[in-house]
Amino acid sequence: MKHLLKLGDYSEKEILSILNLADQLKYEKKHNIEHHYLKGKTLGMIFAKSSTRTRVSFEVGMYDLGGSALFLSNANTQLGRGEPVEDTARVLSRYLDGIMIRTFDQEEVETLANYGSIPIINGLTDYAHPCQVLADLMTIREFKNTFKGMKLTFIGDGNNMCNSLIVGCIKVGMDVAVACPKGYEPDADIVAWAKETGKFTLTTDIYEAAKDADVLYTDVWASMGEEAEAEERKKVFAGYQINSSLMAVAKPDAMVLHCLPAHREEEITAEVFEAHSEEIFEEAENRLHAQKAVLVKLMKEQYQENSK
Ligand code: CP
Ligand code: NVA
Repeated sequence: MKHLLKLGDYSEKEILSILNLADQLKYEKKHNIEHHYLKGKTLGMIFAKSSTRTRVSFEVGMYDLGGSALFLSNANTQLGRGEPVEDTARVLSRYLDGIMIRTFDQEEVETLANYGSIPIINGLTDYAHPCQVLADLMTIREFKNTFKGMKLTFIGDGNNMCNSLIVGCIKVGMDVAVACPKGYEPDADIVAWAKETGKFTLTTDIYEAAKDADVLYTDVWASMGEEAEAEERKKVFAGYQINSSLMAVAKPDAMVLHCLPAHREEEITAEVFEAHSEEIFEEAENRLHAQKAVLVKLMKEQYQENSK
């Protein structure tokens, strides 16, 4: 594991080893056991889009691990003024021990990894949100104890969250059903891969997708960067909502997850959101633990390689 660009690059074994370390780090934090595995290390955090959870959990995560983090907004760096990512990668590699980047194009993240010499972590692109899905998987295992035989249903836009959930859940042995409006399907390469596994279904019918689900998941109708389409999307996605009538077709003990931020009465009703707030906010907390595991896996190994 050199980078975390997308979950498709990881094996089931690698995902599970991150989740196991995340559980350990959560335990250590809860019990005030010092875990300074990245003492003296610095993470750069490049943001071309807004963030609450990703920024705070990475920054606190580095602090917990004995290192530090730098917030690099595109609004005040030369990258935001058009300095090539190829040059940014080579410069920042000389100062930092790792970079987390949140941006639009997946290609930008891949270029950063190709030109830099330090671990690169994808903190969300239009294509993928692997850090969120590692936290989601951690939460599913906490509440359900297993992945095998579990079915996750995603309702809504075939966006970055949907893409990464399909890959992450199938890799650990779950079945995935997606319900989205025509024309808003997940990326074609993800759908093609998922269909090959025999563990994936895609439909426009939310009730068909949610039948016997163990986990129901949704995300906003308009993602960051799609603000201009927001009104049009409200019409397209009307009905693509997790509500009590949809919950009735899922398993009686089904859990509900949402990456947040949530838009109540759009993709999820306030009633269902509050009824499942325990899972949803544990999921948000698990961003911290799962990302700390990623940081240790990537930046500690890198350190050992360099020090040989
Ligand atoms: N779920 C998530 O990534 O949240 P932020 O946009 O607040 O980082
Ligand atoms: N799909 C959303 C996820 C936010 C965490 C977005 O990209 O804005």
